[in-house]
Amino acid sequence: MTRRPYIVGNWKMHGTRAMLSEARAIDRAAQRHPKVEVAIAPPYTLIHPIHREAEQIAVGAQDCHEAEGGAHTGDISAAMVADAGATFVILGHSERRQGHGESDALVRAKAGAAFAAGLRVIMCCGETAATRESGEAVAFVRGQLAASLPPVGELPAEIAERLCVAYEPIWAIGTGTAATTGDIAEMHRAIRALLVELLGEEHGPEVRILYGGSVKPENAAAIFAVPEVGGALVGGASLTADSFMGIALAATEPFVS
Ligand code: PGA
Repeated sequence: MTRRPYIVGNWKMHGTRAMLSEARAIDRAAQRHPKVEVAIAPPYTLIHPIHREAEQIAVGAQDCHEAEGGAHTGDISAAMVADAGATFVILGHSERRQGHGESDALVRAKAGAAFAAGLRVIMCCGETAATRESGEAVAFVRGQLAASLPPVGELPAEIAERLCVAYEPIWAIGTGTAATTGDIAEMHRAIRALLVELLGEEHGPEVRILYGGSVKPENAAAIFAVPEVGGALVGGASLTADSFMGIALAATEPFVS
């Protein structure tokens, strides 16, 4: 099935209200390229302001708490980000797993909470440089992804619409050096096979798999040409409309994901 490429900006801990003009420019450019699905995950504080103005792009969160509410100082629930205008949440990003000690079990609980709140989930996975060097990258990512997704019986029925996987090798994030197309092809093939095992022949082939890690306008077309790449999760290059939309433009040629 051919689906619109999905290009998601992960702004991380970047952005005050001064960045709203950049979000507006991204939204305007996205209106000119409806063949590409463009979205931004800004810091929590900008979800609502961007949502209020955006006409084309979706807005998401970069994390959420696993509980519905309660005494969790400083945390934000899935229902709260949905209330602010988020339609999706990025979960299991390596910066959460490493910087906040998030385990696969915690990420799984967060995914359950996000689905229950009606959000779409971008589930991140990816290996360290040491794991890749040891030759265990595929086995590691398969295990991490399987353990981070809720059990099949607890997933929403329309899972292919609600779930997206992002393969983000940790050694490629923010380094300026993306994974090779060969490495991306091998891992995306393995993730596809796992999704079919877990979700079956009806849904497994339909879940989009994004690549993330130093995607830029210059390397985007080559990455999008790799089989099973359905779009990109973009960090640094999503912070300006020029570079982010350069990546989206590279995806305007229809491709099969
Ligand atoms: P990067 O980040 O594009 O800056 O490498 C990607 C990510 O962490 O999602």
